[in-house]
Amino acid sequence: MSVSIIVGSQWGDEGKGKIVDILSEKFDIVVRYQGGANAGHTVQIGDRQYILHLIPSGILRDNVVCVIGNGVVIDPKALLDEIQLLENSGISIKGRLFISQNAHLIMPYHKLLDSINENTSTKIGTTGRGIGPCYIDKYARKGIRIVDLLDRAVLEEKIKTNIEEKNNILRKVYNHEELNVDDIINEYLEFDQKIDKYITDVPTYLNNAMNDGKSILLEGAQGTLLDIDHGTYPFVTSSNPTSGGACTGSGIPPTKISSVIGIVKAYTTRVGLGPFPTEMFGDEGNKLREVGAEFGATTGRPRRCGWFDAFLVNYSRMINGIERVAITKLDVLSYLDQIKVCVAYEINGRQLKSYPTDVNQMMQVKPVYETLPGWKSDISNAKYYDELPSAAKDYLSFISHQGGFEISLISVGPRRLQTIEL
Ligand code: GDP
Ligand code: IMO
Ligand code: MG
Repeated sequence: MSVSIIVGSQWGDEGKGKIVDILSEKFDIVVRYQGGANAGHTVQIGDRQYILHLIPSGILRDNVVCVIGNGVVIDPKALLDEIQLLENSGISIKGRLFISQNAHLIMPYHKLLDSINENTSTKIGTTGRGIGPCYIDKYARKGIRIVDLLDRAVLEEKIKTNIEEKNNILRKVYNHEELNVDDIINEYLEFDQKIDKYITDVPTYLNNAMNDGKSILLEGAQGTLLDIDHGTYPFVTSSNPTSGGACTGSGIPPTKISSVIGIVKAYTTRVGLGPFPTEMFGDEGNKLREVGAEFGATTGRPRRCGWFDAFLVNYSRMINGIERVAITKLDVLSYLDQIKVCVAYEINGRQLKSYPTDVNQMMQVKPVYETLPGWKSDISNAKYYDELPSAAKDYLSFISHQGGFEISLISVGPRRLQTIEL
């Protein structure tokens, strides 16, 4: 029996979708445990590209069951659109999708408050999907959960109470027009009819499945440095993408976890605001963005691009307990004559001993680089490790040594077959 967690080791978009799709061939169940439709997980099969936001990336394998855990915040419209898109592509989700009754719902006022906040001085460059405001209500114990959809009277009461409060804020603080209670109640009742069949007591379902010997892959969204507790706060998301979040977000106890797999991009990207010590600017950054096709899978925003940061990945390894790593997008670096790797951070000439997550400190750090030769050849068709040029192998062994991890998989292109297993 195996229960493995997949975590993003940087600032998200490491290629989790592709790797979950590959690994899910060997798992019975794939579970999303946090985040919401802020995630965009891409899976490319042949010439077809699927971008998943809420449904686990295991859905593209016929015999895999997919579960949305209690830690996820669900936007009804995004979920229904995604189900429709999959069905239109001939992918049957019947009997293969379960949604936790304890997951919280994104409400229209969450998206509105998210976008209003993005026009203030506390802007952080969110995806605008209502994630922060929804988790605020969850922790304020005012949130509306999937289970509330099952009782019309409860749902109406909760929506009314919430909207009364939100309308007050919208009017008095933001001078914004109020929301209509009835429209929202009707929209969510309609949603309930469509998703009723998927609603499940997920912790019981998963624990029974484990007792029956089923294997489970837990799919994190975002990445370690976007973690609300361990990331570059306040420039983070509002959940725990780190491995600890997999247990609280699914109902699987920590004693059942058998391994933690880190997804590590061969360079670094970040979307939105916040510190990024190894960021490349000007032509250098534009070129990497262009070659790596680094544009957001959810918002289409250009991603900020930079050199590999081994100091950061080492921190991520520690926080998550990562044992094995899948390196992605190695092929993207093939155009470079020389490749820089950050091995430490300095402030005022002194090397830091541990990773800083305080933003003011992060803004002052200077990356310490080592430079490695590039391989300058196309590696996107390599099927075996031995087919890689020696400079590419040297790069891999350098980053794995500096990052303190072992590599078990290398991805050299977006497709399933462009994967080297070690
Ligand atoms: P996720 O959020 O971690 O699932 O990553 P995204 O899907 O947002 O972004 C990763 C992007 O890189 C997607 O467009 C993938 O199709 C693509 N991709 C994944 N692995 C590779 C790879 O090894 N090489 C290249 N060139 N592209 C890749
Ligand atoms: P996947 O799962 C990259 C970033 C946003 C912003 C910050 C907060 O595809 O890797 P939010 O909307 O969550 O309140 O935004 O987090 N962000 C991501 N960046 N990949 C993601 O998901 C992200 N989800 C959120 O850009 O900086
Ligand atoms: Mg993404």
